[in-house]
Amino acid sequence: MHMKGTKSNFPKDFLWGASSSAFQIEGGWDEGGKGPTVADVNSFKRSEIQADSKVASDFYHHWEEDIWLMKELGMKIYRFSIAWARIVPDGDGEVNQEGIDFYNKVIDCLLEHGIEPFITLYHFDLPYALVEKYNGWESRECVKAFDRYARICFEAFGDRVTCWQVHNEQNLMVRVDERVNITTDDAWEADRQRAQMDYHMFLAHALAVKACHSIIPNGKIGPAVSSTCTYPETNKPEDVWAARMNDWFKTDYCLDMHYYGRYPGYYMRYLEERNIVPVMEPEDEEILKGADMDFIAVNYYRTICVRHLPVDETHPVGERAYPINEVDFDMYGYFHHIKNENLAASEYGAQIDPLGLRTVLNSYHQKYHLPLIITENGLGAADTLTEDEKVHDEYRISYLRAHIQAISQAIEDGVQVMGYSPWSFIDILSSHQGFRKRYGFVYVNREDHDVKDLRRVKKDSYFWYKRVIETNGEEL
Ligand code: BG6
Repeated sequence: MHMKGTKSNFPKDFLWGASSSAFQIEGGWDEGGKGPTVADVNSFKRSEIQADSKVASDFYHHWEEDIWLMKELGMKIYRFSIAWARIVPDGDGEVNQEGIDFYNKVIDCLLEHGIEPFITLYHFDLPYALVEKYNGWESRECVKAFDRYARICFEAFGDRVTCWQVHNEQNLMVRVDERVNITTDDAWEADRQRAQMDYHMFLAHALAVKACHSIIPNGKIGPAVSSTCTYPETNKPEDVWAARMNDWFKTDYCLDMHYYGRYPGYYMRYLEERNIVPVMEPEDEEILKGADMDFIAVNYYRTICVRHLPVDETHPVGERAYPINEVDFDMYGYFHHIKNENLAASEYGAQIDPLGLRTVLNSYHQKYHLPLIITENGLGAADTLTEDEKVHDEYRISYLRAHIQAISQAIEDGVQVMGYSPWSFIDILSSHQGFRKRYGFVYVNREDHDVKDLRRVKKDSYFWYKRVIETNGEEL
Protein backbone atom coordinates (compact mmCIF):
# COMPACT_ATOMS: atom_id res chain seq x y z
CA MET A 1 0.00 0.00 0.00
CA HIS A 2 1.48 3.30 -1.06
CA MET A 3 0.58 6.73 0.23
CA LYS A 4 0.47 8.92 -2.83
CA GLY A 5 1.10 12.60 -3.07
CA THR A 6 3.38 12.85 -0.05
CA LYS A 7 5.43 16.00 -0.25
CA SER A 8 9.00 14.91 -0.85
CA ASN A 9 11.98 17.05 0.01
CA PHE A 10 14.57 14.60 -1.26
CA PRO A 11 17.17 16.03 -3.61
CA LYS A 12 17.43 14.46 -7.08
CA ASP A 13 20.73 12.78 -6.31
CA PHE A 14 19.52 11.36 -2.98
CA LEU A 15 21.30 8.07 -2.26
CA TRP A 16 18.64 5.44 -1.66
CA GLY A 17 20.25 2.21 -0.58
CA ALA A 18 20.30 -0.65 1.89
CA SER A 19 22.91 -2.04 4.26
CA SER A 20 24.54 -5.17 5.65
CA SER A 21 27.74 -6.31 7.36
CA ALA A 22 30.21 -9.07 6.54
CA PHE A 23 29.81 -11.50 9.46
CA GLN A 24 26.03 -11.11 9.42
CA ILE A 25 25.54 -12.12 5.80
CA GLU A 26 28.63 -13.67 4.22
CA GLY A 27 29.03 -17.12 5.76
CA GLY A 28 32.05 -18.88 4.23
CA TRP A 29 33.63 -18.04 7.57
CA ASP A 30 36.77 -20.12 6.92
CA GLU A 31 36.69 -20.21 3.12
CA GLY A 32 38.97 -18.41 0.71
CA GLY A 33 41.74 -18.10 3.29
CA LYS A 34 39.69 -16.06 5.78
CA GLY A 35 40.80 -16.10 9.43
CA PRO A 36 38.40 -16.33 12.39
CA THR A 37 37.11 -13.12 13.95
CA VAL A 38 35.82 -12.00 17.33
CA ALA A 39 32.33 -11.99 15.81
CA ASP A 40 32.75 -15.62 14.66
CA VAL A 41 34.13 -16.88 17.95
CA ASN A 42 31.37 -15.22 19.95
CA SER A 43 28.67 -16.44 17.58
CA PHE A 44 30.00 -20.01 17.95
CA LYS A 45 29.49 -19.75 21.71
CA ARG A 46 25.77 -19.47 20.95
CA SER A 47 25.64 -22.11 18.19
CA GLU A 48 23.49 -24.37 20.37
CA ILE A 49 20.78 -21.79 20.79
CA GLN A 50 20.80 -19.87 17.51
CA ALA A 51 22.41 -19.59 14.07
CA ASP A 52 26.08 -18.63 14.01
CA SER A 53 28.22 -16.88 11.40
CA LYS A 54 29.31 -20.08 9.59
CA VAL A 55 26.66 -19.82 6.87
CA ALA A 56 24.67 -16.70 7.84
CA SER A 57 22.82 -15.62 4.65
CA ASP A 58 25.54 -17.22 2.51
CA PHE A 59 26.24 -14.05 0.54
CA TYR A 60 29.71 -15.52 -0.04
CA HIS A 61 28.11 -17.95 -2.50
CA HIS A 62 25.02 -15.93 -3.51
CA TRP A 63 26.58 -12.52 -4.14
CA GLU A 64 25.74 -12.38 -7.82
CA GLU A 65 22.10 -13.26 -7.31
CA ASP A 66 21.88 -10.81 -4.40
CA ILE A 67 23.34 -7.96 -6.44
CA TRP A 68 20.75 -8.67 -9.15
CA LEU A 69 18.08 -8.21 -6.51
CA MET A 70 19.69 -4.92 -5.44
CA LYS A 71 19.61 -3.70 -9.01
CA GLU A 72 15.98 -4.65 -9.42
CA LEU A 73 15.18 -2.81 -6.20
CA GLY A 74 16.75 0.29 -7.75
CA MET A 75 19.40 0.82 -5.09
CA LYS A 76 21.82 3.66 -5.74
CA ILE A 77 24.25 2.62 -3.00
CA TYR A 78 24.99 -0.58 -1.13
CA ARG A 79 26.53 -0.16 2.29
CA PHE A 80 28.41 -3.30 3.32
CA SER A 81 31.52 -4.18 5.25
CA ILE A 82 34.77 -5.86 4.35
CA ALA A 83 35.89 -8.64 6.68
CA TRP A 84 39.35 -7.53 7.84
CA ALA A 85 40.23 -11.23 8.35
CA ARG A 86 39.50 -12.00 4.67
CA ILE A 87 42.09 -9.42 3.63
CA VAL A 88 44.63 -10.04 6.41
CA PRO A 89 43.64 -13.36 8.03
CA ASP A 90 45.73 -12.92 11.19
CA GLY A 91 45.17 -9.17 11.39
CA ASP A 92 48.67 -7.90 10.73
CA GLY A 93 50.51 -10.55 8.68
CA GLU A 94 50.25 -11.88 5.14
CA VAL A 95 47.75 -10.33 2.75
CA ASN A 96 45.23 -12.83 1.37
CA GLN A 97 44.82 -12.24 -2.36
CA GLU A 98 41.74 -14.46 -2.46
CA GLY A 99 39.99 -12.07 -0.09
CA ILE A 100 40.88 -9.09 -2.25
CA ASP A 101 39.65 -11.00 -5.32
CA PHE A 102 36.31 -11.71 -3.65
CA TYR A 103 35.60 -8.06 -2.87
CA ASN A 104 36.86 -7.02 -6.30
CA LYS A 105 34.20 -9.25 -7.85
CA VAL A 106 31.52 -7.79 -5.58
CA ILE A 107 32.58 -4.19 -6.23
CA ASP A 108 32.81 -4.67 -10.00
CA CYS A 109 29.43 -6.35 -10.15
CA LEU A 110 27.82 -3.54 -8.11
CA LEU A 111 29.30 -0.93 -10.41
CA GLU A 112 28.20 -2.81 -13.53
CA HIS A 113 24.68 -2.62 -12.14
CA GLY A 114 24.92 1.08 -11.42
CA ILE A 115 25.16 0.68 -7.62
CA GLU A 116 27.77 2.65 -5.72
CA PRO A 117 29.67 0.57 -3.14
CA PHE A 118 29.82 2.24 0.28
CA ILE A 119 32.28 0.27 2.38
CA THR A 120 32.63 -0.06 6.14
CA LEU A 121 36.14 -1.17 7.06
CA TYR A 122 35.31 -2.72 10.41
CA HIS A 123 31.90 -3.92 11.54
CA PHE A 124 32.43 -5.76 14.87
CA ASP A 125 34.67 -8.44 13.32
CA LEU A 126 38.18 -7.92 14.66
CA PRO A 127 40.52 -10.71 13.46
CA TYR A 128 40.67 -13.12 16.39
CA ALA A 129 44.44 -13.49 16.01
CA LEU A 130 44.79 -9.89 17.21
CA VAL A 131 43.02 -10.84 20.44
CA GLU A 132 45.36 -13.79 20.91
CA LYS A 133 48.46 -11.73 20.15
CA TYR A 134 47.68 -8.41 21.81
CA ASN A 135 44.31 -8.50 23.55
CA GLY A 136 42.98 -6.65 20.52
CA TRP A 137 42.38 -2.94 20.81
CA GLU A 138 43.99 -2.75 24.23
CA SER A 139 47.32 -2.67 22.42
CA ARG A 140 48.72 0.01 20.14
CA GLU A 141 49.77 -2.84 17.85
CA CYS A 142 46.12 -3.09 16.87
CA VAL A 143 46.14 0.57 15.81
CA LYS A 144 49.11 -0.13 13.54
CA ALA A 145 47.42 -3.23 12.18
CA PHE A 146 44.24 -1.31 11.38
CA ASP A 147 46.12 1.53 9.70
CA ARG A 148 47.87 -1.02 7.49
CA TYR A 149 44.64 -2.89 6.72
CA ALA A 150 42.84 0.36 5.84
CA ARG A 151 45.66 1.34 3.48
CA ILE A 152 45.58 -2.08 1.82
CA CYS A 153 41.85 -1.59 1.16
CA PHE A 154 42.25 1.97 -0.12
CA GLU A 155 45.04 0.84 -2.46
CA ALA A 156 43.14 -2.24 -3.67
CA PHE A 157 39.65 -0.77 -4.09
CA GLY A 158 40.10 3.02 -4.03
CA ASP A 159 40.24 3.26 -7.84
CA ARG A 160 36.52 2.33 -7.83
CA VAL A 161 35.26 3.08 -4.31
CA THR A 162 35.13 6.66 -3.08
CA CYS A 163 32.75 6.35 -0.09
CA TRP A 164 34.03 4.75 3.13
CA GLN A 165 33.11 4.28 6.77
CA VAL A 166 35.79 3.51 9.33
CA HIS A 167 34.35 1.68 12.36
CA ASN A 168 30.73 0.70 12.63
CA GLU A 169 29.31 2.15 15.85
CA GLN A 170 32.51 2.47 17.83
CA ASN A 171 30.44 4.17 20.54
CA LEU A 172 28.20 1.12 20.92
CA MET A 173 30.77 -1.57 20.16
CA VAL A 174 33.04 -0.49 22.99
CA ARG A 175 30.20 -0.71 25.52
CA VAL A 176 29.53 -4.35 24.75
CA ASP A 177 32.16 -6.61 26.31
CA GLU A 178 31.87 -9.44 23.81
CA ARG A 179 32.20 -7.15 20.78
CA VAL A 180 35.66 -6.06 21.89
CA ASN A 181 36.44 -9.24 23.75
CA ILE A 182 36.57 -7.96 27.31
CA THR A 183 36.43 -11.08 29.45
CA THR A 184 37.39 -10.02 32.97
CA ASP A 185 34.79 -10.17 35.77
CA ASP A 186 36.36 -7.21 37.51
CA ALA A 187 34.13 -4.21 36.70
CA TRP A 188 36.85 -1.60 37.14
CA GLU A 189 39.39 -3.54 35.08
CA ALA A 190 36.77 -4.00 32.34
CA ASP A 191 36.23 -0.22 32.25
CA ARG A 192 39.97 0.43 32.20
CA GLN A 193 40.43 -1.86 29.19
CA ARG A 194 37.36 -0.37 27.53
CA ALA A 195 38.71 3.17 27.86
CA GLN A 196 42.08 2.15 26.42
CA MET A 197 40.45 0.26 23.56
CA ASP A 198 38.15 3.16 22.80
CA TYR A 199 41.08 5.55 22.68
CA HIS A 200 43.03 3.27 20.36
CA MET A 201 40.01 3.02 18.07
CA PHE A 202 39.94 6.84 17.93
CA LEU A 203 43.59 6.84 16.86
CA ALA A 204 42.86 4.17 14.24
CA HIS A 205 39.89 6.19 12.98
CA ALA A 206 42.01 9.32 12.59
CA LEU A 207 44.78 7.43 10.78
CA ALA A 208 42.28 5.83 8.39
CA VAL A 209 40.62 9.17 7.61
CA LYS A 210 43.98 10.69 6.75
CA ALA A 211 45.09 7.65 4.73
CA CYS A 212 41.85 7.71 2.73
CA HIS A 213 42.32 11.37 1.88
CA SER A 214 45.92 10.87 0.85
CA ILE A 215 45.41 7.68 -1.21
CA ILE A 216 42.00 8.20 -2.88
CA PRO A 217 41.38 11.33 -4.93
CA ASN A 218 37.87 12.53 -3.98
CA GLY A 219 37.72 9.90 -1.24
CA LYS A 220 34.98 10.53 1.32
CA ILE A 221 35.13 8.97 4.75
CA GLY A 222 33.37 9.22 8.09
CA PRO A 223 32.20 7.27 11.13
CA ALA A 224 28.97 5.31 11.50
CA VAL A 225 27.53 6.30 14.86
CA SER A 226 24.97 4.45 16.95
CA SER A 227 22.52 7.30 17.42
CA THR A 228 19.51 7.91 19.60
CA CYS A 229 18.01 10.68 21.65
CA THR A 230 17.26 10.33 25.32
CA TYR A 231 14.19 11.76 27.06
CA PRO A 232 13.99 12.59 30.77
CA GLU A 233 11.33 10.76 32.76
CA THR A 234 10.21 14.05 34.35
CA ASN A 235 11.07 17.72 34.10
CA LYS A 236 13.07 17.56 37.33
CA PRO A 237 16.37 19.22 36.46
CA GLU A 238 18.39 16.16 37.55
CA ASP A 239 16.35 13.92 35.21
CA VAL A 240 16.84 16.35 32.34
CA TRP A 241 20.55 16.41 33.09
CA ALA A 242 20.61 12.59 33.20
CA ALA A 243 19.02 12.46 29.74
CA ARG A 244 21.56 14.90 28.33
CA MET A 245 24.39 12.93 29.91
CA ASN A 246 23.14 9.67 28.44
CA ASP A 247 23.39 11.14 24.95
CA TRP A 248 26.62 12.98 25.56
CA PHE A 249 28.25 10.11 27.35
CA LYS A 250 27.28 7.41 24.86
CA THR A 251 27.33 9.30 21.55
CA ASP A 252 28.41 12.93 21.51
CA TYR A 253 31.77 12.35 23.23
CA CYS A 254 32.62 10.08 20.32
CA LEU A 255 31.64 12.60 17.65
CA ASP A 256 33.49 15.34 19.54
CA MET A 257 36.58 13.17 19.63
CA HIS A 258 36.39 12.60 15.86
CA TYR A 259 35.67 16.26 15.21
CA TYR A 260 37.98 18.07 17.64
CA GLY A 261 40.54 15.33 18.33
CA ARG A 262 40.06 15.57 22.10
CA TYR A 263 37.66 14.36 24.75
CA PRO A 264 35.06 16.86 25.97
CA GLY A 265 35.48 17.98 29.59
CA TYR A 266 32.63 15.90 31.02
CA TYR A 267 34.10 12.76 29.49
CA MET A 268 37.61 13.47 30.71
CA ARG A 269 36.15 14.06 34.17
CA TYR A 270 34.44 10.66 34.05
CA LEU A 271 37.71 8.97 33.00
CA GLU A 272 39.50 10.70 35.88
CA GLU A 273 36.79 10.02 38.46
CA ARG A 274 36.87 6.37 37.51
CA ASN A 275 40.67 6.41 37.37
CA ILE A 276 40.79 4.93 33.89
CA VAL A 277 42.41 7.66 31.79
CA PRO A 278 43.96 5.79 28.85
CA VAL A 279 47.68 5.77 28.17
CA MET A 280 48.35 8.42 25.53
CA GLU A 281 51.59 9.08 23.65
CA PRO A 282 53.00 12.51 22.80
CA GLU A 283 52.55 11.98 19.03
CA ASP A 284 48.84 11.29 19.44
CA GLU A 285 47.85 14.94 19.43
CA GLU A 286 49.21 15.22 15.93
CA ILE A 287 47.46 12.02 14.82
CA LEU A 288 44.08 13.09 16.18
CA LYS A 289 44.26 16.63 14.86
CA GLY A 290 42.92 17.43 11.41
CA ALA A 291 41.43 14.00 10.67
CA ASP A 292 38.50 15.73 9.03
CA MET A 293 35.53 13.48 8.45
CA ASP A 294 33.52 14.24 5.31
CA PHE A 295 30.13 13.17 6.68
CA ILE A 296 28.51 11.53 9.67
CA ALA A 297 26.67 8.27 9.10
CA VAL A 298 23.73 7.85 11.44
CA ASN A 299 22.53 4.43 12.60
CA TYR A 300 19.17 4.95 14.25
CA TYR A 301 16.54 2.52 15.54
CA ARG A 302 14.78 3.88 18.62
CA THR A 303 14.87 6.35 21.52
CA ILE A 304 15.56 5.99 25.22
CA CYS A 305 14.17 7.38 28.46
CA VAL A 306 16.08 7.79 31.72
CA ARG A 307 15.93 9.17 35.23
CA HIS A 308 18.78 10.29 37.44
CA LEU A 309 20.58 7.47 39.29
CA PRO A 310 22.21 8.66 42.49
CA VAL A 311 25.37 7.02 43.82
CA ASP A 312 25.02 4.84 46.91
CA GLU A 313 27.32 3.42 49.56
CA THR A 314 28.35 0.40 47.55
CA HIS A 315 28.48 1.94 44.10
CA PRO A 316 30.86 4.81 43.31
CA VAL A 317 30.23 7.45 40.70
CA GLY A 318 30.88 6.17 37.18
CA GLU A 319 30.28 2.47 37.94
CA ARG A 320 28.13 0.70 35.38
CA ALA A 321 24.96 -1.20 36.25
CA TYR A 322 23.05 -3.45 33.87
CA PRO A 323 19.28 -3.19 34.00
CA ILE A 324 18.52 -4.23 30.44
CA ASN A 325 21.64 -5.13 28.53
CA GLU A 326 25.13 -3.82 28.00
CA VAL A 327 24.04 -1.45 25.26
CA ASP A 328 21.67 0.41 27.57
CA PHE A 329 23.67 0.15 30.77
CA ASP A 330 22.94 2.43 33.72
CA MET A 331 25.65 4.39 35.49
CA TYR A 332 25.77 5.51 39.11
CA GLY A 333 25.77 9.26 39.49
CA TYR A 334 24.35 9.58 35.98
CA PHE A 335 21.39 7.72 34.45
CA HIS A 336 18.96 4.82 34.89
CA HIS A 337 16.89 3.55 31.94
CA ILE A 338 13.14 3.30 32.15
CA LYS A 339 10.36 2.53 29.71
CA ASN A 340 8.83 5.43 27.83
CA GLU A 341 5.08 4.92 28.23
CA ASN A 342 4.37 7.27 25.32
CA LEU A 343 5.94 5.06 22.69
CA ALA A 344 5.05 1.71 21.19
CA ALA A 345 7.78 -0.90 21.11
CA SER A 346 8.82 -3.49 18.54
CA GLU A 347 8.31 -7.13 19.52
CA TYR A 348 11.95 -7.04 20.69
CA GLY A 349 11.46 -4.00 22.91
CA ALA A 350 12.92 -1.16 20.80
CA GLN A 351 10.83 1.96 21.43
CA ILE A 352 9.77 3.21 18.01
CA ASP A 353 10.12 6.93 17.54
CA PRO A 354 10.42 8.51 14.06
CA LEU A 355 10.39 12.04 15.52
CA GLY A 356 13.50 11.11 17.49
CA LEU A 357 15.32 10.66 14.17
CA ARG A 358 14.37 14.19 13.11
CA THR A 359 15.73 15.43 16.46
CA VAL A 360 19.00 13.53 16.05
CA LEU A 361 19.54 14.76 12.48
CA ASN A 362 18.91 18.35 13.51
CA SER A 363 21.17 18.11 16.50
CA TYR A 364 24.15 16.65 14.57
CA HIS A 365 23.64 19.20 11.82
CA GLN A 366 23.65 22.10 14.25
CA LYS A 367 26.70 20.84 16.09
CA TYR A 368 28.97 19.61 13.30
CA HIS A 369 27.69 21.24 10.09
CA LEU A 370 28.49 18.10 8.10
CA PRO A 371 26.40 16.19 5.55
CA LEU A 372 24.58 13.24 7.11
CA ILE A 373 23.60 9.86 5.74
CA ILE A 374 21.46 7.26 7.47
CA THR A 375 23.24 3.90 7.15
CA GLU A 376 21.04 1.88 9.50
CA ASN A 377 17.37 2.10 10.40
CA GLY A 378 14.91 -0.76 10.45
CA LEU A 379 12.57 -3.07 12.26
CA GLY A 380 13.60 -6.49 13.53
CA ALA A 381 10.66 -8.88 13.43
CA ALA A 382 9.84 -12.58 13.15
CA ASP A 383 8.57 -12.65 9.54
CA THR A 384 6.49 -15.50 8.18
CA LEU A 385 6.86 -17.00 4.71
CA THR A 386 3.43 -17.93 3.41
CA GLU A 387 2.69 -21.01 1.32
CA ASP A 388 2.38 -18.86 -1.78
CA GLU A 389 5.90 -17.46 -1.29
CA LYS A 390 5.05 -14.09 0.21
CA VAL A 391 6.16 -12.19 3.28
CA HIS A 392 3.54 -9.68 4.37
CA ASP A 393 5.63 -7.28 6.45
CA GLU A 394 3.27 -4.32 6.63
CA TYR A 395 4.71 -3.51 10.12
CA ARG A 396 8.14 -2.96 8.53
CA ILE A 397 6.69 -0.74 5.82
CA SER A 398 4.94 1.42 8.45
CA TYR A 399 8.15 1.76 10.42
CA LEU A 400 10.26 2.71 7.39
CA ARG A 401 7.62 5.04 5.97
CA ALA A 402 7.41 7.02 9.22
CA HIS A 403 11.19 7.32 9.42
CA ILE A 404 11.51 8.43 5.79
CA GLN A 405 8.88 11.10 6.51
CA ALA A 406 10.95 12.23 9.50
CA ILE A 407 14.03 12.52 7.27
CA SER A 408 12.04 14.52 4.75
CA GLN A 409 11.02 16.89 7.55
CA ALA A 410 14.60 17.18 8.76
CA ILE A 411 15.63 18.17 5.23
CA GLU A 412 12.92 20.81 5.35
CA ASP A 413 14.39 21.96 8.68
CA GLY A 414 17.61 22.66 6.78
CA VAL A 415 19.60 19.50 7.49
CA GLN A 416 21.78 18.22 4.65
CA VAL A 417 20.97 14.51 4.29
CA MET A 418 22.83 12.67 1.51
CA GLY A 419 21.02 9.37 1.61
CA TYR A 420 19.07 6.65 3.33
CA SER A 421 20.39 3.11 3.56
CA PRO A 422 18.19 1.10 5.92
CA TRP A 423 19.03 -2.12 7.74
CA SER A 424 19.04 -4.42 6.01
CA PHE A 425 19.07 -5.39 2.36
CA ILE A 426 18.66 -9.09 3.07
CA ASP A 427 17.86 -10.94 6.29
CA ILE A 428 20.98 -11.00 8.42
CA LEU A 429 22.28 -12.90 11.42
CA SER A 430 21.01 -10.88 14.35
CA SER A 431 23.27 -10.70 17.39
CA HIS A 432 21.05 -12.35 19.98
CA GLN A 433 18.14 -13.68 17.97
CA GLY A 434 19.87 -15.24 14.95
CA PHE A 435 17.35 -15.66 12.12
CA ARG A 436 14.34 -15.40 14.40
CA LYS A 437 14.64 -11.65 14.16
CA ARG A 438 14.71 -10.42 10.58
CA TYR A 439 15.35 -7.00 9.11
CA GLY A 440 15.68 -7.53 5.35
CA PHE A 441 13.73 -6.48 2.28
CA VAL A 442 14.64 -9.94 1.04
CA TYR A 443 13.74 -13.05 3.01
CA VAL A 444 16.36 -15.79 3.35
CA ASN A 445 14.78 -19.21 3.56
CA ARG A 446 16.57 -20.69 6.53
CA GLU A 447 15.96 -21.17 10.22
CA ASP A 448 18.46 -20.96 13.03
CA HIS A 449 19.34 -24.65 12.95
CA ASP A 450 18.20 -25.61 9.49
CA VAL A 451 19.88 -23.80 6.59
CA LYS A 452 17.26 -25.22 4.16
CA ASP A 453 17.80 -23.97 0.59
CA LEU A 454 18.69 -20.35 1.48
CA ARG A 455 16.23 -19.27 -1.21
CA ARG A 456 15.73 -15.53 -1.61
CA VAL A 457 12.11 -14.26 -1.46
CA LYS A 458 11.13 -10.62 -1.98
CA LYS A 459 9.04 -9.35 0.91
CA ASP A 460 6.16 -6.89 0.50
CA SER A 461 8.53 -4.21 1.83
CA TYR A 462 10.83 -4.89 -1.14
CA PHE A 463 8.12 -3.93 -3.65
CA TRP A 464 7.11 -0.97 -1.53
CA TYR A 465 10.69 0.33 -1.21
CA LYS A 466 11.27 -0.14 -4.95
CA ARG A 467 8.43 2.31 -5.60
CA VAL A 468 9.76 4.73 -2.98
CA ILE A 469 13.09 4.80 -4.79
CA GLU A 470 11.48 5.11 -8.23
CA THR A 471 9.48 8.14 -7.10
CA ASN A 472 12.36 9.63 -5.07
CA GLY A 473 10.23 9.44 -1.94
CA GLU A 474 7.10 11.01 -3.49
CA GLU A 475 5.15 7.79 -2.95
CA LEU A 476 5.47 6.39 0.50
C1 BG6 B 1 23.31 -2.23 14.87
C2 BG6 B 1 24.45 -3.03 14.26
O1 BG6 B 1 23.73 -1.68 16.06
O2 BG6 B 1 22.17 -2.93 15.18
C3 BG6 B 1 23.99 -4.19 13.40
O3 BG6 B 1 25.30 -2.19 13.54
C4 BG6 B 1 22.87 -4.94 14.07
O4 BG6 B 1 25.10 -5.01 13.14
C5 BG6 B 1 21.71 -3.94 14.30
O5 BG6 B 1 22.40 -6.05 13.36
C6 BG6 B 1 20.48 -4.58 14.91
O6 BG6 B 1 20.81 -5.18 16.13
P1 BG6 B 1 20.34 -6.66 16.44
O7 BG6 B 1 20.90 -6.96 17.79
O8 BG6 B 1 18.87 -6.64 16.40
O9 BG6 B 1 20.93 -7.53 15.38
